[in-house]
Amino acid sequence: MSSPSVCPPALTAVERIAAIRAIVAAARDRGERVGLVPTMGALHAGHLSLMQAARNECDFVVATIFVNPKQFGPQEDFRKYPRDLATDLRLCAEAGVDAVFHPPTEEVYPPGFTSFVEMGGLSEVLEGRFRPGHFRGVATVVLKLFQMVPADCAYFGQKDYQQQAIIRRMCGDLNVPIEIRVCPTIREPDGLALSSRNVFLNEAERKAALSLSRALHLARQKISEGATDLHVVRDEMRQLLNSTPTVHADYATLVDPDTLEEIATVLPRQVAVVAARVGVTRLIDNLIIEK
Ligand code: PAJ
Repeated sequence: MSSPSVCPPALTAVERIAAIRAIVAAARDRGERVGLVPTMGALHAGHLSLMQAARNECDFVVATIFVNPKQFGPQEDFRKYPRDLATDLRLCAEAGVDAVFHPPTEEVYPPGFTSFVEMGGLSEVLEGRFRPGHFRGVATVVLKLFQMVPADCAYFGQKDYQQQAIIRRMCGDLNVPIEIRVCPTIREPDGLALSSRNVFLNEAERKAALSLSRALHLARQKISEGATDLHVVRDEMRQLLNSTPTVHADYATLVDPDTLEEIATVLPRQVAVVAARVGVTRLIDNLIIEK
């Protein structure tokens, strides 16, 4: 069940639930604190920062690599989502991960699978509007991963602000005994947030994609200069995005950090959130802005 052909020597990589359960149970029996880093692979420095945080705070680190079909819409990029297991395993080994769980689809969704985590509220706004069913798929797979890999602590990125909010809410609502840690967004030197989807951008789109982080910084600047009417700030963010060739904004707005509801006036703390298609590649980003 380990993958001898692609698995670096220091790393255990398994595909079966029974195998990862046994590995995690042994670590817990040794009294070790287990940290879990769920990913869809195509690993970059953002993912590696979560593994690093887990390495610093836990005794035993498990990463999962699973491109979850249930969180992709029918018109989305499930089939062409980047996959490179050999490189991912090498990166996990270099990051000091102890074990990687990379199940095949049937291991996670065997024939007859019909149970889903349905969430209202947080899952219906922002990404939820543009990607119906996405968070149902995310919440379901994350809860399943928490059952398969019973860790003390799980690591998520602020890059997917709504996703971490939903996972924290789900764990509270369903009494899931795991601590959720959220790590800062890792960016390219010019500000572009790292994403597995950035590989799809051509040179012109790569430049155009900078408009997302620019729109977020514009919002921060306007608020620090004393803007109070956030409708105006929102319009300016949208204008910046939509005036960039090949960029089409899905949304660009300011929301309450807890409810994710749009806000009209400045709060002590708010989140600027953007989602835009750059060519055919859909990117998201966000920035916490404190007054
Ligand atoms: P994926 O997009 O592979 O991301 C895995 C984790 O890495 C998520 O917690 C995400 O927020 C974090 N991440 C991505 N880019 C980051 C960046 N630039 N800086 C910091 N962290 C970053 O998110 C998913 O997979 C899936 O939805 C998953 C939770 C695994 C469920 O299928």
